[in-house]
Amino acid sequence: MFPFAISLFLTQSLVFAQDLGVPLTWREFSNSRLLAERISIAEDAINTILPQLDTSNAQFDGIGYWQSGNVFSAMANFDHLAGTTTYETQVINGLNTAFSLYSNFDQYGITMTRSAYYGYRAYGDENLLSMAIATWTHVSQYVITTADASSGTQPNKDFPIAGTCFGESMAGGVFWRPTVDDTGINSITTGLFTTLSAFLAETTGDTTYTNAAILSAEWMQNLQINADGIVLDTVDGADCTRSPATWLFTYNSGKYLEGLSVLKDVTGNSAWTTLMTDIAAVAIKSSAWEGSNGIITEGASPTANNDGVGFKAIFIRGLDEVSVRSSDNSALQILIHSYNDVQYNALLELADNGTSYSSSWTGPPQGFTTWGQLAALDVMVTAINTNSP
Ligand SMILES: *[C@@H]1O[C@H](CO)[C@@H](O)[C@H](O)[C@H]1NC(C)=O
Repeated sequence: MFPFAISLFLTQSLVFAQDLGVPLTWREFSNSRLLAERISIAEDAINTILPQLDTSNAQFDGIGYWQSGNVFSAMANFDHLAGTTTYETQVINGLNTAFSLYSNFDQYGITMTRSAYYGYRAYGDENLLSMAIATWTHVSQYVITTADASSGTQPNKDFPIAGTCFGESMAGGVFWRPTVDDTGINSITTGLFTTLSAFLAETTGDTTYTNAAILSAEWMQNLQINADGIVLDTVDGADCTRSPATWLFTYNSGKYLEGLSVLKDVTGNSAWTTLMTDIAAVAIKSSAWEGSNGIITEGASPTANNDGVGFKAIFIRGLDEVSVRSSDNSALQILIHSYNDVQYNALLELADNGTSYSSSWTGPPQGFTTWGQLAALDVMVTAINTNSP
């Protein structure tokens, strides 16, 4: 059943999603800044948020725990892409502190885990890899296995689970909270687990991780993509209730795209490449979070922090991974760097105040906020390598 279902799906999605052209309505979709300047802009942006770091709890004043994980991710990826070790000490110390305060990084889900993986990738620190693996093992207890879906039970949940929803198996879905009676399964948690599994498969060669990545990627594919090709948010693991159709957030598509980009490399299965390309093509142009000028408007919040402020950063980071792994598709790479340049130029021209940036990327500039700065970091880091020279 599955190979047929998958190929049918991909054939249908090809019909609506092959346009990789850059919309000419986008605002300033190129830039001519040289590498050294792009590195310096990213470094200045990171240095502007660093004074907010509280080393006692590895969090940045003004944002929460999982948002702080995104700052460490951006710092590690800066070093990875710039070929430097500028933030090695802060990243390694910060992640060690978070891991010691919250076993397996679990203060609501698996958020700091991918920071640990990025840190391992940037610095080769085996202890960070061990933390990522420990967390993977912890989170895998909250995945619906194929056997769980058949039996309608999950060992760490105290309610009968839905084995199928909307005619599709729930195997591969990941409960986002460990609490025994919490029924929510969402795309960000399952997308994070897909991505972490694929990274660990690539790093270790252990097929346990590959199989986990495939199962969760299939759950996303079968249940969480709307008719336009955009990733949805939540399904209830007990009664299949779905989040409102209007709950379309950049990070759900972005994190899944990141996972698919690694998974297609790990498996060599071009069906994942096609799915990745299809989702990227529509997500990059979605009117759900941007106007015809291409500037992302989601999470613009000048006066107060909220969870949604940093979603777009996760989207941009996922697209960067797609770009890095798409050297065989120059149209896709051009679309991604053009999209990031739209955001980059908006931040540098409409939302900047010195080296700090508003969470409203269309402007106007304002005084420093930790959340605005967090949201900008991945754009700055991504510009290091999606542009050339
Ligand atoms: C720029 O930031 C400074 C310091 O936070 C602030 O006092 C100033 O009002 C900001 N400028 C604008 C145009 O918002």
